[in-house]
Amino acid sequence: MAKIISVVGGRPQFIKEAITGKELRKLHKEILVHTGQHYDVELSRKLFQQLDIIEPKYNLGVGSGSHARQTAAVMIGMEEIIEKERPDIVLVYGDMNSTMGACIASAKLNVPIAHVEAGARMRVFDMPEEQNRIVSDHLSKWNFALNEECYENLVNEGLEKTAIKVGDVMYDALVYFREISLKETKENYWKRLDFIFDRSDVSPEQWYLATIHRPENTDVLETLEIILSALEKLPHIVLMPVHPRIHSKVVELQKKHHYRNIIFVKPVGYLESIYYLSNAVGVITDSGGLQREAYWAKTPCTAVLRAVDDKRMLKGNCLIMAKVEQDDILDKVINSKRNNLAYDFSEYGDGHACRLIAETLMK
Ligand code: UD1
Repeated sequence: MAKIISVVGGRPQFIKEAITGKELRKLHKEILVHTGQHYDVELSRKLFQQLDIIEPKYNLGVGSGSHARQTAAVMIGMEEIIEKERPDIVLVYGDMNSTMGACIASAKLNVPIAHVEAGARMRVFDMPEEQNRIVSDHLSKWNFALNEECYENLVNEGLEKTAIKVGDVMYDALVYFREISLKETKENYWKRLDFIFDRSDVSPEQWYLATIHRPENTDVLETLEIILSALEKLPHIVLMPVHPRIHSKVVELQKKHHYRNIIFVKPVGYLESIYYLSNAVGVITDSGGLQREAYWAKTPCTAVLRAVDDKRMLKGNCLIMAKVEQDDILDKVINSKRNNLAYDFSEYGDGHACRLIAETLMK
């Protein structure tokens, strides 16, 4: 049994912890640290409640800020906790600033790091997430790759001794929570939506699901405006949970364009997200996690992003890439179709990646 400090900072990491933590605690002692990078109720507390995640022993309260400030605050907070708790292992997820900050603090104190979802690469080096992944992978003792491509990326960077292919904990989460999610009716889910501009009059039979939050799509207002102009023209209602970083921009653009086809809502829970994406006509997103979830739900997905980190999903057009141009987005989304024969889930594990991680750390 090892004493493990797991570190989470944001929405996708809470979902990964919900499923991984359950397995870790069967074999190890786990202490949870919440860095506080995501702090809004919709992004944090609601997910902890819905997914029954254990109460963090520490919350660093780092909040929002520049990359350096956020990372530094995580480093300082983690240094204190590591010195006090003396863990055997620090476990981190994904590619957030919280991940990299925790890795640097742990490495400096010579505490071995387990990195879940290691080896993902987009080869776009000005992307903050790509920088965080590279640093985190190179400091980790165990790099848990979610598929062969991630594993090969680690090997190609000389990290073969640390690389272990285990499958995808997000796949574990989907397998585990989908059954619960799909039990509820559309009416119940729809009633619970928190509309940013009241659209409770609408209750569509068919919809697209869209999420856009990456800096490359949202830092410049005009870029977001182009993406929304395409969504507004799609043949079905577009349900769009709005990340807080774009809330004020959405308000500004709504005043200007009076969108009717896009329904903007506050961030939804994980069960809601699975329901809406599983039953959508299509998904439009710049989130790597949502791309994979759409793939597992066999919902056609269009990525509005310069690069994707899981190129296997491009096979058979299960995932299609669109440029930030109204016509290209419209063309790709409208023409995307479910290609049942193209899906191959074998690469993502058997739904027990978390157990493999816990067992590996036992050795
Ligand atoms: C972060 C991760 C990204 C991940 C995403 C998931 C980094 C560099 N990026 O991006 O990899 O895909 O989380 O959502 O770590 N904000 C709030 N309330 C919150 C959180 C954020 O209002 O609870 C607003 C703030 O204005 C903040 C902005 O959103 O400045 C960006 O938040 P931040 O945590 O820095 O990055 P994300 O875009 O969420």
